[in-house]
Amino acid sequence: MLNFSKLLSSIEPSKTVALTSLINQLKVEGKKILSFSAGEPDFNTPDFIKEAAINAINNNQTKYTSLQGTAELINTIINKFKTENNLDFTPNEILVSSGAKQSLYNVVMSICNPGDEVIFQAPYWVSYPEMVKLAQAKPVIIESTAESNFKITPNQLEEVITKNTKAFLFNSPSNPTGAVYSKSEIIELANVLIKKDIYIITDEIYEKIIFDDEEHFSIGSIPELKDKTITINGVSKAFSMTGWRIGYAGGSKEIIKLAKILQGHSTSNATSISQAAANAALNGSGKEINKMVEEFNNRRNFVIKELQTIKGINCPTPKGAFYAFFDVSNYYNKSNGRLKVTDSISFCNYLISDVSIALVPGVAFGNDSCARMSYASSMDDLVEGIKRLKSSLTNLN
Ligand SMILES: Cc1ncc(COP(=O)(O)O)c(C=O)c1O
Repeated sequence: MLNFSKLLSSIEPSKTVALTSLINQLKVEGKKILSFSAGEPDFNTPDFIKEAAINAINNNQTKYTSLQGTAELINTIINKFKTENNLDFTPNEILVSSGAKQSLYNVVMSICNPGDEVIFQAPYWVSYPEMVKLAQAKPVIIESTAESNFKITPNQLEEVITKNTKAFLFNSPSNPTGAVYSKSEIIELANVLIKKDIYIITDEIYEKIIFDDEEHFSIGSIPELKDKTITINGVSKAFSMTGWRIGYAGGSKEIIKLAKILQGHSTSNATSISQAAANAALNGSGKEINKMVEEFNNRRNFVIKELQTIKGINCPTPKGAFYAFFDVSNYYNKSNGRLKVTDSISFCNYLISDVSIALVPGVAFGNDSCARMSYASSMDDLVEGIKRLKSSLTNLN
């Protein structure tokens, strides 16, 4: 019998995508589900960005662009990296791709060989382990918990480094936890990495969505790590442009050259119209971002205050992104008489069937004690959702 790719058959489909399909199916069946599973801002793309795209169409910027990205966008990205992140790149050190997801995949594929190890922490973004496996490398996961604010220590990092370690994959602000590493915490991790021959892939897609007095710091700006760091970013989250699919990578020209080979033989250039829109976004005043972050901050303050009053939930205060990630394992082995909760999936299934609210089970992010609630939803929905969550949890005994 004909068979399929063994490699692809061993890769898990995104668990968050499966949940979205389940929610859509329940909606089709007429159930009114309040979903807090979204991984994207609920705001519209700002008008000035949409206008730039419309202009690009009217000006016939509708042909293939350079594989690497348009000259305008590459220059804008170089400037952004310089002024906002203290990172210096030349044009052949930048690659524009169809979303930060593709940027990450390109880079993982460009540096890994079979048997290499790639270190990252749990809870992690769902695609990290599967991307590493697609490159036939091995994910090496450092566990972190709510008690440590979902951060790892330099000792934890040092302990898992072996002669096979190829890369450390870092994400701050984090999806799913909202944890933000401070500059001093990043320097401490960097001090471990400086001594080793290890690449650093840093996923900074949530850089702009950051609260309180936290400041984003790019690990690649540490001079000793410059040549070994590949910085990934994109416009999806900061500019509410998830559907436009523009991400970018900045790294050594050798890595970017390999990434271009992969992209050149798979998807080619990112959409010309979206590149024009991304160029406008990155050259904007930042006014829209500030408004969005202020609104996220109001919602975060409400959601976190409420969650932290629920006995049985342990929710550290997220400092970035738009997710609350909290420990719900106190509810395991409890039931409402009909349904029993035993893990993060049954916890989320219980909430969907009991009060029609959808959270994402922590197991999707490598932590089966937790659940993720996105606050990229209207305040009204969040108020109603928290009310339902509280009432449902009191029925678990
Ligand atoms: C941590 C993280 N990295 C990368 C991405 C990919 O973003 P993009 O939409 O640019 O592909 C996401 C999207 O959810 C994310 O949460």
